[in-house]
Amino acid sequence: MTQQESMSKKTAQPTNPPRERAFLVGVDLYKQKSFLSLEDSLTELALLSDTSGLDVVGELTQKLDRPHVKTYIGPGKVEELKALVEETLSQVVIFDDELSPRHQRELQETLGRNVRVLDRTALILDIFAQHAHTSEGMLQVELAQYEYYLPRLTGQWTHLERQAGGGGGRAGSTGGVGLRGPGETQLEVDKRAIRKRISHLKKELEKVRAHRMRYRAQRKRSRIPTVALVGYTNAGKSTLLNKITHSDVYVADQLFATLDPTTRRVELPGGYQALFTDTVGFIQKLPTTLVESFHATLEEITESDLLLHVVDISHPNALNQFESVQQTLDELGADHIPIITALNKVDQLRNPESAREIVSHFSKAVTVSALDGTGVKDLLRVIQEELYETYAPIHVRLPYQQGALISLFHEAGQVERIEHGRGGVVMQGRIPGRLLAQFSSWQVDGNHHEDHGEPADEEDEL
Ligand code: GTP
Repeated sequence: MTQQESMSKKTAQPTNPPRERAFLVGVDLYKQKSFLSLEDSLTELALLSDTSGLDVVGELTQKLDRPHVKTYIGPGKVEELKALVEETLSQVVIFDDELSPRHQRELQETLGRNVRVLDRTALILDIFAQHAHTSEGMLQVELAQYEYYLPRLTGQWTHLERQAGGGGGRAGSTGGVGLRGPGETQLEVDKRAIRKRISHLKKELEKVRAHRMRYRAQRKRSRIPTVALVGYTNAGKSTLLNKITHSDVYVADQLFATLDPTTRRVELPGGYQALFTDTVGFIQKLPTTLVESFHATLEEITESDLLLHVVDISHPNALNQFESVQQTLDELGADHIPIITALNKVDQLRNPESAREIVSHFSKAVTVSALDGTGVKDLLRVIQEELYETYAPIHVRLPYQQGALISLFHEAGQVERIEHGRGGVVMQGRIPGRLLAQFSSWQVDGNHHEDHGEPADEEDEL
């Protein structure tokens, strides 16, 4: 079976397949910056395995200065792993870090064909594949899977090729046709087909992105501000959205239950309104292929007027999870958007008083229980204040073509200084937090210039 077939088989599997036995491997790399200790990271990997339908039967760890070139863990550890895998009758071995194609190939050869060697990324991709329901979600996952598997195809075929005695050449080598084994030819065919599929998927996603941009432009014109819920997987985003909107978004005690963004209109205190969007959960070591493929969905975050960061405060690693999400937001370029923190699951805290102490560590944080509704009214009030009553300082240079934004500043903001020039107008003053995102591309001292015009520094001739 080719990897292509095995992939489509995986996505099409029945909901209750027999659970396979999985063995976990974690490496503590000297000097590697990580948000979780090795032990906690492996606990998380075990949870991911469980969500993916695997039974974890054991784990092995090693401390290393750097990964071993061939097998990621040292040769002695590989032997130990092999013995443990046989002893525990494991069918899958999962590494907590992303393995290079070479690591995967060498490990696969050493451990034998009866065991599948996977890594955290493959596991997350598998969970995403199980949970994608809309056509956009499915396209995004499929693209991420192919991007991940393409460079890893070689290993499979090197093995088959050798079995078939195909001329002894390396798979992927450019030897003459006479030297090529059947496996290699098949590999080239497979790779070409996958590349073609990748470019098709990218085109489809581009269409989805264009559609989303039109939809967002419409929402902006409606002037209803948007709030994106972000947070570590399982923090309670969907439950909170349900509580706020009295609706029925899918909630499950599983990682990444929500994959496709859901937008709902919410009544805020004082008759104000906002649109709330639930987004995909974050996790430490979020695979880069996924972040790239989910670009369109993640734009919901970077284009929102306010971020609501939901934190499971009852989780032993709450602060690390918080920091990991903050880092991903910075990487996505969402660090200019105002943020409110909802410290969720307070009902789970043994000492609710400790919540008060925790709140003091955050600016603009509210303790809530999405399950029983505690604090949800307060949270909505803080959101309403942030969006409609809090004015943020701003300094922009707006070209005259941006007449709508110039009027908006005059209507909704407080203008403190204005200078008209040849190419546009420099405005300084304060505007409500909900409008900051709309002006971010034109900030004079900001680094958030986007590709629709040529915003420039104030010093530039106007
Ligand atoms: P992803 O889809 O992985 O991003 O998860 P999510 O952040 O949307 O979490 P979800 O709302 O699916 O909730 C995860 C689990 O936490 C579910 O079992 C919820 O019932 C539970 N949960 C959510 N909020 C609370 C809360 O305030 N208190 C308690 N005790 N449990 C909660």
